Amino acid sequence: MNRTESNELGHLTIAGVDAVDLANTYGTPLFVYDVEQIRKNAQSFVQTFKELGVQAQVAYASKAFSSVAMLQVAQQEGLSLDVVSQGEMHTAIQAEFPKERIHLHGNNKSMDELEMAIKEGIGCIVVDNFLEIELLKELLTKYEQQMDVLLRVTPGIEAHTHDYILTGQEDSKFGFDLWNGQAEQALLQLQASDRIHVKGLHCHIGSQIFETHGFIMAVKKLFEALGNWKEKHGYTPDVLNLGGGFGIKYTDEDEPLPLTTYVKELVKEVKSQSMEYGFTLPEIWIEPGRAIVGDAGVTLYTVGAIKHIPDVRTYVSVDGGMTDNLRPALYHARYEAAVANKMDAPIHQTVSIAGKCCESGDMLIWDVDVPAIESGDVLATFSTGAYGYSMSNHYNRFPKSAVVFVEDGHHQLVIQRESYQEVTRLDLSYERP
Ligand code: LLP
Repeated sequence: MNRTESNELGHLTIAGVDAVDLANTYGTPLFVYDVEQIRKNAQSFVQTFKELGVQAQVAYASKAFSSVAMLQVAQQEGLSLDVVSQGEMHTAIQAEFPKERIHLHGNNKSMDELEMAIKEGIGCIVVDNFLEIELLKELLTKYEQQMDVLLRVTPGIEAHTHDYILTGQEDSKFGFDLWNGQAEQALLQLQASDRIHVKGLHCHIGSQIFETHGFIMAVKKLFEALGNWKEKHGYTPDVLNLGGGFGIKYTDEDEPLPLTTYVKELVKEVKSQSMEYGFTLPEIWIEPGRAIVGDAGVTLYTVGAIKHIPDVRTYVSVDGGMTDNLRPALYHARYEAAVANKMDAPIHQTVSIAGKCCESGDMLIWDVDVPAIESGDVLATFSTGAYGYSMSNHYNRFPKSAVVFVEDGHHQLVIQRESYQEVTRLDLSYERP
């Protein structure tokens, strides 16, 4: 999304729509998604696999932003879906997402979640631990059903965004370890059931990754194990799922690769390793979340109180904060912003953008250059499409923000703003005994 596009009024435009009008129409804080950008991101993955003639599924990791409208767009773009909970699965079913293209994740899937997946006939379960294998077998017997699964393995590679460490014993709550025999034991337990088909392996090495080296290392590790299991157990995978984690641009310092590059490099390595170990090329699945929706989202806020501490800092408070964007507080994540109603005004000062929660750590941006800013201005923060709304919360009993989709000059509300009645809708009064 272009962060500097403006109209004759000097207002930021998002997919041709005036951002200040959006703020006036729907109120703030407001999540605005440029749907064309979502489609473009999705197609960068989907089309590249197609052009390379490789069987693939691009599963949108819906934890990044799950809503009925979003999943409808994902379906229109030919994506599959990664869900990690009953809530995300429920949203997918509400959106009438094709069930056979839904993949269920989770490191502690409950009996209810597994039961729902089986009853709904979702496409595949990514098995994560030994308890799950037991529960799954029990349920499949009870319902006399079959299930395709992927075995989630921990390859011993950890991405630290810019570099990787190869650890003998990666310390992770997810998946079965490749190096200590757990993954092999899990494979044998799964294969022992004639109701379970082990379609292949899954791994996810981290998030916001800016180059392909870690993915290549992971592919090599997977094939090392597969080569071994082929000899010992005659196992061949139909699918390799290499997870998500493709990096996006939050600030100017971020230099993400074109999304197509990840696909090309992954395909090249999987082809070469398949050849080396004598496998026919498996289907390649990936699970981008952030790379599909991150740079398509903008959050609009209204500026309120401004506190100037001479020679120290100017705090500009907005009407949202860690309730709609937890990432700065949680990960020290950095964002860029613009004053949406003053796009033509010259930069005047450096300020810090504060949220309105009762918490000193509720800061959205430390030090951002802005024009002369005043109460009532509309502030836009960019690249907030992933893990913004989805990690939003009710701290200080703030209602959840609204979400608007914008495409071809049209705007449409896709998640309503929560009302105060809804904030207290589950509360019951206490009757003193
Ligand atoms: N697949 C698996 C198994 C995952 O665990 C994740 C992210 C993804 C796919 C999608 O990763 P992505 O492409 O979006 O980077 N809340 C954090 C991110 C946590 C991601 C957890 N798993 C954040 O705001 O950065």
